[in-house]
Amino acid sequence: MPDTHVAQAASPPEVREVRLQDYRPPVFRVDTVDLHIRLHEMRTVVRAALVLRRAAPGPLQLDGEGLELLAIRLDGAPLPPDRYALDAHGLTIDTLPDSCRLETEVAINPGANTLLSGLYVSGGNFYTQCEAEGFRRITFFPDRPDVLARYTTTLVADAARCPVLLSNGNPDGEGRNEDGTHWARWVDPHPKPAYLFAVVAGDLVAVRDRFRTRSGRDVALAIWVREGDQHKCDHAMWSLKTSMKWDEDTYGLEYDLDVFNIAAVSDFNMGAMENKGLNVFNTKYVLARPETATDADYQGIETVISHEYFHNWTGNRVTCRDWFQLSLKEGLTVFRDQTFTADLGSEAVKRISDVVRLRAAQFPEDAGPLAHPVRPDRYRKIDNFYTATVYQKGAEVIRMLRTLIGTEAFRRGMDLYIARNDNSAATIEDFVAAMAEASGRDLSAFMTWYDQAGTPTLTVSDAYDAAARRYTLTLRQETAPTPNQPDKRPVMIPVAMGLLDPSGGALPMRLAGENEAGAATRVITLDAAERQFVFEDVPVPPVPSLLRGFSAPVRLAGLSRERLRFLAAHDSDPFVRWDSGQHYMTDVLLDAVAAGRDVDDAGILDIVANALGAHGRDPALVAEVLTLPSEAALADAMATVDPDGIHRARESARRAIGHALRDRFARTYDALTDTGPYA
Ligand code: SER
Ligand code: ZN
Repeated sequence: MPDTHVAQAASPPEVREVRLQDYRPPVFRVDTVDLHIRLHEMRTVVRAALVLRRAAPGPLQLDGEGLELLAIRLDGAPLPPDRYALDAHGLTIDTLPDSCRLETEVAINPGANTLLSGLYVSGGNFYTQCEAEGFRRITFFPDRPDVLARYTTTLVADAARCPVLLSNGNPDGEGRNEDGTHWARWVDPHPKPAYLFAVVAGDLVAVRDRFRTRSGRDVALAIWVREGDQHKCDHAMWSLKTSMKWDEDTYGLEYDLDVFNIAAVSDFNMGAMENKGLNVFNTKYVLARPETATDADYQGIETVISHEYFHNWTGNRVTCRDWFQLSLKEGLTVFRDQTFTADLGSEAVKRISDVVRLRAAQFPEDAGPLAHPVRPDRYRKIDNFYTATVYQKGAEVIRMLRTLIGTEAFRRGMDLYIARNDNSAATIEDFVAAMAEASGRDLSAFMTWYDQAGTPTLTVSDAYDAAARRYTLTLRQETAPTPNQPDKRPVMIPVAMGLLDPSGGALPMRLAGENEAGAATRVITLDAAERQFVFEDVPVPPVPSLLRGFSAPVRLAGLSRERLRFLAAHDSDPFVRWDSGQHYMTDVLLDAVAAGRDVDDAGILDIVANALGAHGRDPALVAEVLTLPSEAALADAMATVDPDGIHRARESARRAIGHALRDRFARTYDALTDTGPYA
């Protein structure tokens, strides 16, 4: 393309606040994008041909940052400079036909890109990161997730320096040029937003495998690493194939390209990125060897590989209308990777570790100066909203929906959500509407979880009327004010529960007005500030077991120490058993800290002994149950933290456990040491 006009956009641009209520659909759609990228460390030249179609009256606005505009043509003819305006945010063209082809040519400097957003160089190779707004640093484009286009990408680079040229979609030809460069073309048949665009080019080697989808598509899998790292990819490849199978079995969702590439890079801003057909990973979530990696390293690989793979449907095929909907893809995809890992191993242990993480990262966020709803309503930099609230609490919100409507309705809702929104950009309302329709439930009140920040406290009180054999459970909820949200509304809290008799057996649960008693676990919903649940025909004073499986991201208050100890020993729900034990031990340890004395408590010994004896079939769960609350968790529960006191009390409890249960521990250890190969 000949030069017509050269302009330089100034950078960096000033930051503008973006508000959810200001959302407007795009003025132009982009049907196809034809990219030609000549890679060079200091001066990469990007030619883009956009086929545009008007969707509303108004000017065309293309985002662009730090781009040197070399040429611009409209329908084949140079566009004169008075037809467009260039500023630090991009390019505006006031007058355009309803359908047209716009070509731009820009130069960028990936070698100088230290933001690692857009196209950059790491260890001599080229990589991209375009989520959330990196594509505008590669070419002029409507860089918003509701503009979905079909991409064809041709890469040209020095053949010796960059033998590998990868982009999204399927490979569609390659060849050599006479000047020592070579080229490769990639065609992505699926429309996608610009944030899913990716390029990886350089000197990498592939570890290869194959996967056959259930409808018979043969997919070539490759993990691209540096020479010498090939032997560290086994777990990543296993995780990928297992994820592909799981999504077919669990949600009927199949992979949709002929290739699936993963590239590992050591300089990466995020953990990993779900670019269509070309995931880019931080090396720590790909590479591992049994000799050097810990269980946690393996778990991290499994989680992140599955997470990015699952985005192919929840994020890529169905994407987000705008960045306020980030949790639509992230909360849902975290929920999917959590259930995947739970299905593969111990559901209870997985749940415990996810809740530990939620409490350690998200609860403090929700209680602090940066508290924000799962769907924020304004931002300056969306990059600051890749938070524990959007991801982890977002996953809890999805889990609550499943708990409220049941697993089968949830699956029907997923089918409906995907079918209705495939190849388009959706909102959180679209997701909840699919769940409401699939279940026949009115979920409008549920939206408060998305729009209100803060962790509710659920307080329980109860009464038993022996003469009437009636048990009344009163649940109250309260959420403390957070920045910009002084007045909180009640949220819809699903409480999975059971009732225990004095020996720990399950009592039947029949709410007043019901004909039959419910199952050993039932879900009651607190949808107001306070509600009473009246159970009939209760023969003995029960102990309530609440929030089984941690059915809602709330703090639970009002259970006495005796009841916690009882639940820790007897409840049938492993999560409640663990959680009650942790609460009990926290109470006892904090008492000892306050009194400045050692811990000497029969209840703690009971909990530990019981764990060693009773749940021997899931050793990882036993390990969780007999672990004392961490010093950090204890500190978190104190108004004024006393680090020395916490340390002393906790060590004294460890000593007491060791003295009392030494033989039991030794026997458990011996029983577990000869279990054959590492598992
Ligand atoms: N979209 C990326 C992910 O969550 C960003 O971290 O996988
Ligand atoms: Zn994600």
